Amino acid sequence: MLALKMVLLVCVGASLAQELITAEKLKSIEERLRITEATLNELKRENEALRMTAQASEIKLESLQAVNKAKEVAFSVGLLSAGSQQFGPFSTQENLVYKKIFINTGNAYDSSTGIFTAPVNGVYFFRFYVHSHPDKQMAVSLYKNSERQCSIFSLKPQTNTNASNGVILTLKKGDKVNTQLWENSWLYDDENNYTSFSGFLLFPS
Ligand SMILES: *[C@@H]1O[C@H](CO)[C@@H](O)[C@H](O)[C@H]1NC(C)=O
Ligand SMILES: *[C@@H]1O[C@H](CO)[C@@H](O)[C@H](O)[C@H]1NC(C)=O
Repeated sequence: MLALKMVLLVCVGASLAQELITAEKLKSIEERLRITEATLNELKRENEALRMTAQASEIKLESLQAVNKAKEVAFSVGLLSAGSQQFGPFSTQENLVYKKIFINTGNAYDSSTGIFTAPVNGVYFFRFYVHSHPDKQMAVSLYKNSERQCSIFSLKPQTNTNASNGVILTLKKGDKVNTQLWENSWLYDDENNYTSFSGFLLFPS
């Protein structure tokens, strides 16, 4: 009888010990789970932060691409789209509306008005060439927002004549540049493209 009791006690002791180990294990599993959960949350936060950074970079890239695109500004145009023509004289100054488009990257030059409109703030280069016949006054000026910037002038030349002028201008977005024939002046153009107007953005500012 005593022996049996002893055996029973040993058994109870053993199962108690087993339960204790299990509780301990459970505790450690719980602890590991808690750490894993915390790590997971941390990773989630990091992932979200990375996603936000990537999104911000993408937006920045798109806006840089748009800015770069706006910097592509160059036009070169001839007066006549075809044929030959004397232009003038008129009793008032006349806008020169160049119809032949060699290039018009950025579409800042308007071939229906002859006016270039700056798409971005920047420093721009412009140049115009004019051809005329003898005994006709040739006079053309380049304007920025109706203010004369530079001119060419030839008073009744002896032979056919050619003249050009160019200027670098600081323009604000929306500033307008064009050329005008003076009153009582003439010029000429044909398929040789003697009379032209060109400009481009040197750099944004
Ligand atoms: C102007 O250019 C035309 C075409 O090249 C030429 O025939 C003419 O002689 C030039 N005029 C002068 C004065 O150089
Ligand atoms: C004038 O421009 C046209 C393009 O529009 C070109 O085909 C032609 O060769 C040019 N003429 C001269 C003499 O450069």
